[in-house]
Amino acid sequence: MGKALLLLLVCVSYQLSCASAFNRFSVGDEKGWIPGVNYTIWEKKHRPFHVGDWLVFYYQPRTSDVVQVDEDAYDKCDASSPISNYSKGRSYAFELNHTGRYYFICSFGYCYQGMKLSILVEPLTSPSAPLSAKKKSSASAAPPPLALTSSAALAATLLAAAAAAALLRVL
Ligand SMILES: *[C@@H]1O[C@H](CO)[C@@H](O)[C@H](O)[C@H]1NC(C)=O
Ligand SMILES: *[C@@H]1O[C@H](CO)[C@@H](O)[C@H](O)[C@H]1NC(C)=O
Ligand SMILES: *[C@@H]1O[C@H](CO)[C@@H](O)[C@H](O)[C@H]1NC(C)=O
Repeated sequence: MGKALLLLLVCVSYQLSCASAFNRFSVGDEKGWIPGVNYTIWEKKHRPFHVGDWLVFYYQPRTSDVVQVDEDAYDKCDASSPISNYSKGRSYAFELNHTGRYYFICSFGYCYQGMKLSILVEPLTSPSAPLSAKKKSSASAAPPPLALTSSAALAATLLAAAAAAALLRVL
């Protein structure tokens, strides 16, 4: 509990970095990672992706898997020499930890019908640069707001100060 509060305080004082580190995208939204979803459209809808974001693939056990491949293998739906592959359980959380393109396919044959995802991880823009309003439409994937208005930031700072004071009283 105390730890969580401290983490909250740290996050409040470094809003931007924490917010960007905790973006989780459910691939395919509520449909998940299944045949019949156009993941090119999904990727467009949820751009931009940044280092520290997570992709969570929810899939049917034994009929789907998540295979990370290179561009060539993505184009050919070739899962024979994967960079990584995952097929345990019902979900797989993958951290995007470098900029550039990532490619994922399903190795069960559904790739040919479009069960494949190509995603571009972009460098973070500087905090002073105006952030696009794109994020607001992707609320279903629940990314926390990247840009806080200055009044929200002020409120958060006041909240943090109050929480810190409360913490000190407890100690
Ligand atoms: C996934 O990886 C395991 C172990 O590295 C390997 O045995 C298996 O063939 C791979 N599956 C695919 C579809 O690449
Ligand atoms: C990058 O992410 C992959 C998959 O989540 C992980 O296996 C790997 O260790 C990570 N690399 C670094 C440098 O964090
Ligand atoms: C997905 O949608 C894009 C854009 O509308 C289209 O170009 C592409 O052919 C579609 N892919 C599949 C597999 O249907």
